[in-house]
Amino acid sequence: MKLKLIALAAALVATASAQAQSAKLKVGLMLPATGTFAALGTAIENGFRLYVTEQGGKLAGREIEFVKVDDESDPAKATDNVNKLIKRDNVDVLVGTVHSGVAMAMAKVAKDTGTLLLVPNAGADAVTGPMCAPNIFRSSFSNWQPGYAMGEVVAKKGHKKVVTITWKYAAGDESVRGFKEAFEKAGGSVVKELSLPFPGVEFQALLTEIAASKPDAVYTFFAGGGAVKFVKDYAAAGLKKSIPLYGAGFLTDGTLEAQGADADGLLTTLHYSDALNTPRDNAFRLAYAKTYKLQPDVYAVQGYDAAQMLGIGLAAVKGDVSKKAEFAAAVEKAKIDSPRGPFSVSKAHNPVQDIYLRQVSGKENKLVGVASKSLADPARGCKM
Ligand code: PHB
Repeated sequence: MKLKLIALAAALVATASAQAQSAKLKVGLMLPATGTFAALGTAIENGFRLYVTEQGGKLAGREIEFVKVDDESDPAKATDNVNKLIKRDNVDVLVGTVHSGVAMAMAKVAKDTGTLLLVPNAGADAVTGPMCAPNIFRSSFSNWQPGYAMGEVVAKKGHKKVVTITWKYAAGDESVRGFKEAFEKAGGSVVKELSLPFPGVEFQALLTEIAASKPDAVYTFFAGGGAVKFVKDYAAAGLKKSIPLYGAGFLTDGTLEAQGADADGLLTTLHYSDALNTPRDNAFRLAYAKTYKLQPDVYAVQGYDAAQMLGIGLAAVKGDVSKKAEFAAAVEKAKIDSPRGPFSVSKAHNPVQDIYLRQVSGKENKLVGVASKSLADPARGCKM
């Protein structure tokens, strides 16, 4: 009798677990649908969906169901938004977001609840630094990475005195810090650090200050709608001809239609270029353009790769997201076949990747070369 009961209980558990693994996998997409980063959110979602579609709508045998929240790139609303996805919608996996401040709130909740989190953009150094966790992964970059690579490039160009300008929040601060670390190590000096609150675009007074400082060059982090306006204002102020402008590649990614000739010639560093011309990237660009009638950008790639990373982890655990250690082990040893070029993740779960030097020509960020080969974020403060 007792044996029969045990067998029955075991059978019930097995059925429940099989059901959980064949039921739809709920993915909570927390991305900006409004504001200066709205287009970035769309590209990430497009990229994510493209990969899932290429897999027949399923990852590891589980159909994917999306639950969406517009996070508005507002850190003040972030904790409520992420809690709703976890508690009300019962998502199995969180995917988000663009803004570093919002992403840090997501990482805190993910760490506290053990929910699987894939970050498809936000570079907040802390996410793969002090906040790193076995259940948190990033398919994009750390803010330090493109900044550090550009610090070396600008020093090699022979510039000595640089002014920086950005939004005053984690991404801007950390991008400038990465730049400054490499630039000053190579003998340059950052003579002034200018900033304005996110997502402000009143650049005039700051551009006047740049003109008065007469630096050899300017380094900047802006993205999305703000980047469009900054590049146009920089040119309109007459600075483009006199003081070379360098940036983390977000300055000119997904923005070139709107920036037009004002962006032409700009040099930036990023883990993607529109002209890699590899079979992998060409196939991705063609599929993306066909599906969405749009050219892909770095955000589309990061969304696509977040879905790939989820697929790799899920395959290893046969769709059972509760097997966190096995999920993590599979992603940690994987080479992700990204359109940007294959990459693996560091122990802190951040991509170790080539950072390209690109130059704007027409509507493309053309490839100039590799600025920094297999660059790994230092993951300061990560204990895992
Ligand atoms: C960020 O907040 O981390 C961020 C936002 C937009 C970008 C890159 C980084 O394009």
